[in-house]
Amino acid sequence: MRIGVYPGTFDPITRGHTDIVARSLHLFDRLFLAVAPNPRKEPLLSIAHRVELAKIATKEFPHVEVEPFDGLLVKYVRDRGAHAIIRGLRALSDFEHEFQMALLNRKIDEQLETVFLMPSEEFSYLTSSIVKELAMFGGPLEDFVHPEVANKLRQCYTKHP
Ligand code: PNS
Repeated sequence: MRIGVYPGTFDPITRGHTDIVARSLHLFDRLFLAVAPNPRKEPLLSIAHRVELAKIATKEFPHVEVEPFDGLLVKYVRDRGAHAIIRGLRALSDFEHEFQMALLNRKIDEQLETVFLMPSEEFSYLTSSIVKELAMFGGPLEDFVHPEVANKLRQCYTKHP
């Protein structure tokens, strides 16, 4: 059985992320979507909310498990018996950081591969940050995120304008 780990901050999960989930399931039998704290970013949503929304947004996909994770990604991947890390690559601007992470992870574990998947063109410009900015200014969200994610974001910005 081929097991993949799709890690990220998912603050919040977007349709670009779920597009990568769908593509991953063509390559892997089972997928762990791992929601990370990421100290380099200050997430809008708590990890519990990000996990909850990721579960809702991926409920149509069988063989996907959403979990919070903290600590070293390589260790998490090993603990799950997974074979590869999956990352979405949208544009050239993603490349340098992704390249660093993939090589660092491989340095820690020589056996570990990172698989880069390109999202559908329609999501190639989509980021969680853009979605949050749209939400902050009351823009339309349903084309970019699951309706329940859209509702949650609107609530956040109504409470904290
Ligand atoms: O969605 P993001 O913010 O690009 O995800 C980044 C993430 C969570 C995959 C990355 O920060 C990560 O792997 N964090 C876990 C800690 C770790 O193992 N760091 C070393 C590899 S960079």
